[in-house]
Amino acid sequence: MSRQKIAVVGTGYVGLTTGTCMAHLGHQVTCVDNDQGKIESILSGVLPIHEANLAELVAQGRRSGRLSFTTGLVDAIADAEFVFLCLPTPTSEDGSADIAAIIEVVGSIRTSLKPGAVVINKSTVPVNSANLVIDLIGRTDVDVVSNPEFLREGSAVKDFLEPDRIVVGCNNAIAGDRVAALYMDIRCPLVVTDFASAETIKYMANAYLAMRISFVNELASFCHAIGADVLEVVKGLTLDKRIGSSFLTPGPGWGGSCFPKDTRAISHGASEVGERLQLVETTIRANNDHQERIVDLISLHSGNKSTGCRVCLLGLTFKAGTDDTRESPALVIGQALANRGYDVLGYDPTYPRLRGYGLKSVETIDDALKDADIAVVATEWPEFSTLAPETYAEMMRGNLIFDLRYILDREQFAAVGLEVITMGQRSVLIRE
Ligand code: UGA
Repeated sequence: MSRQKIAVVGTGYVGLTTGTCMAHLGHQVTCVDNDQGKIESILSGVLPIHEANLAELVAQGRRSGRLSFTTGLVDAIADAEFVFLCLPTPTSEDGSADIAAIIEVVGSIRTSLKPGAVVINKSTVPVNSANLVIDLIGRTDVDVVSNPEFLREGSAVKDFLEPDRIVVGCNNAIAGDRVAALYMDIRCPLVVTDFASAETIKYMANAYLAMRISFVNELASFCHAIGADVLEVVKGLTLDKRIGSSFLTPGPGWGGSCFPKDTRAISHGASEVGERLQLVETTIRANNDHQERIVDLISLHSGNKSTGCRVCLLGLTFKAGTDDTRESPALVIGQALANRGYDVLGYDPTYPRLRGYGLKSVETIDDALKDADIAVVATEWPEFSTLAPETYAEMMRGNLIFDLRYILDREQFAAVGLEVITMGQRSVLIRE
């Protein structure tokens, strides 16, 4: 397929990645956002998100003349053959996905769409949204296609350009083929299906992955209770090819802008059609319980003495490789510790980019570790595992480290007098 004119509405991590990668594939792309500050920032070379390789590709796209940015929605879509909707669908009060942004944008563009244009739902939308968009557009000369994204924050560019599969949901095979052809040189399996199935694939992929993590975190707690080693058990499990190894790393629980929102939304969606997704509901509860268990473990090891106890929280984002703190387990755990009276001080390598969160934080890891009684490694940033155990020992007042990501070498820490506690592993004795 030749170069196509594409408009991408919304420049969050899905929209910005989609637009930039489509330009990289050779298409002519205009990205549009109603946030003028965001567009100005991108144009000045500062991306609103921390995403590996994205800044380079944005710069390349702009230099090639194939990638532009604007706040002018109607002008951007007027001559586009394809319009990707990459809009936020946050959780409403009742747990459902709030699609107000989609309704508003579709309402503003419907009469300006070019005849023959295809409107594509890219961001995660409730099942039946494609039909809703068709109704909102109300035109027979415009097609709608569902093309869910499977991009992980932090590796979104790689996930876009080297996907496991591309999913296209359509009610018109020609429109579906046209959207699939946009991915030109990308070699991967293609699933072309109906709208509801495509929309369900997206939700259930996230729900299933979240379920695996809740499973392994429960396993960690079980191993802790019986004296087994969770990492050894996981190794033994994952060598079974039927189980596989991905998304079975224990940790502080899953968070971010997708799993929490999407598991809530699909549970709610099921209840609306008289169904119950009990495993998904339990997955959510298990995740919340796991975070409470971690807070209990920390309290227990500090002798339940929180007053005057300084906790250094290492990592505030929901995982490494992103500056996103939405529904971050680190913040949930940090906040719970603060509520129990601990003096919590947070640090994250993306510090200057952190937006609105309620804990005290400092700009350097040294400032965070200084005089800490307890350190909690909540995010798997390499900085935390490459910092010498001696530095932890010199800076900290106490000798307890909770490694929620299993990234520290417990033997090396024990050798300098620090006890690294992990959920589901026996402690390594400190050598005097
Ligand atoms: C997730 C999905 O992985 C993407 O495929 C999907 O496109 C995206 O949501 C979305 O719906 O937009 P993301 O939220 O960026 O991507 O993060 P993940 O890498 O999936 O991690 C989610 C959470 O699970 C993080 O808190 C992470 O630390 C945790 N996790 C992940 C574990 O605790 N253990 C693991 O083994 C894997």
